Amino acid sequence: MGRVYNFSAGPAVLPEEVLREAAEEMLDYRGTGMSVMEMSHRSKAFQEIIDTARADLRGLMGIPEDYEVLFLQGGASQQFAMIPMNLMKNRVVDYIVTGQWAKKASEEAKKYGKVNILASSADKTFSYIPDCRDLPVSEDADYVYICENNTIYGTKYKELPDTKGKLLVADVSSCFLSEPVDVTKYGVIYGGVQKNIGPAGTVIVIIRKDLITEDVLPGTPTMLKYKTHSDAGSLYNTPPAYGIYICGKVFRWLKKQGGLAAMKKYNEKKAKILYDFLDQSSMFKGTVAPKDRSLMNVPFVTGDDMLDARFVKEAKAAGFENLKGHRSVGGMRASIYNAMPMEGVEALTAFMKKFEEENQ
Ligand SMILES: Cc1ncc(COP(=O)(O)O)c(C=O)c1O
Repeated sequence: MGRVYNFSAGPAVLPEEVLREAAEEMLDYRGTGMSVMEMSHRSKAFQEIIDTARADLRGLMGIPEDYEVLFLQGGASQQFAMIPMNLMKNRVVDYIVTGQWAKKASEEAKKYGKVNILASSADKTFSYIPDCRDLPVSEDADYVYICENNTIYGTKYKELPDTKGKLLVADVSSCFLSEPVDVTKYGVIYGGVQKNIGPAGTVIVIIRKDLITEDVLPGTPTMLKYKTHSDAGSLYNTPPAYGIYICGKVFRWLKKQGGLAAMKKYNEKKAKILYDFLDQSSMFKGTVAPKDRSLMNVPFVTGDDMLDARFVKEAKAAGFENLKGHRSVGGMRASIYNAMPMEGVEALTAFMKKFEEENQ
């Protein structure tokens, strides 16, 4: 069987070109006679891989000098604890809850101090982003936390909250590198790479350098201090070396596509095909407030669980994988990350149209 159109929310589709290149280098990475998987992380070859990856990411995102880039482990979920442990000096933080991931992060932060929920969209099953232009930000908040793209519910902040001068911390796992960002608006940007960038096991943290200090909560493990990893250039211990190598290849691929501005245009065009179809369909409906729709994760339903299940089954048989919605919401979800080609979305839309006609 050949490759399918993989609409998984993560781990997710990667650029075929990157996978082919990695396959070519699998047994002998550029004359080293070994795979990157087999290589010392202290070797010259690996140092070059991580340095190039870091520099390419800096270039792609326009990361200023006063921000550090860290390649860490533990997934995005480990950051739920690492962020408060490193940043919660006053033991007061503000979270905006727009879905399960922000909720989980807020619950983890509660272990370390007072967590105010500034706003939430739980009242409408997280189908929108609350108005964040004038929030009651706490006087002594160490930071305001958001999950910028909500993988499960398919919403995205189109405008960042007004944090009234407080530090903004954002989980960008499912919109990482999907469009340009102004890094200076954030204290910390982080994400697991397994959606838009690489294989699971690596998390990237972009953090303003003045936030990296020894002044962390008492008892913070060495491995969970940003300073440990920053001081060691992300090589304090054995890093997720193969993951970093693939991330580096994806950064190169993104540069070749024209960078993040070009990627945004492509993603907008791609998502529009699917949203336009949903908006005119009499069977399939998008579940998100149109103004808050994500370019990356597109949830939809027919309104009939049996029909949803049949659609997912028939779609799978036709080569469209992983369209089942998250177990907590049901229905369908098409994740259309950077590496999903336009043809994948066109083919899916054509399949949906046919399914609709056949099941009237
Ligand atoms: C937005 C967001 N944050 C956090 C996570 C958790 O990531 P991890 O499994 O790497 O801990 C996910 C995973 O799907 C996610 O979508």
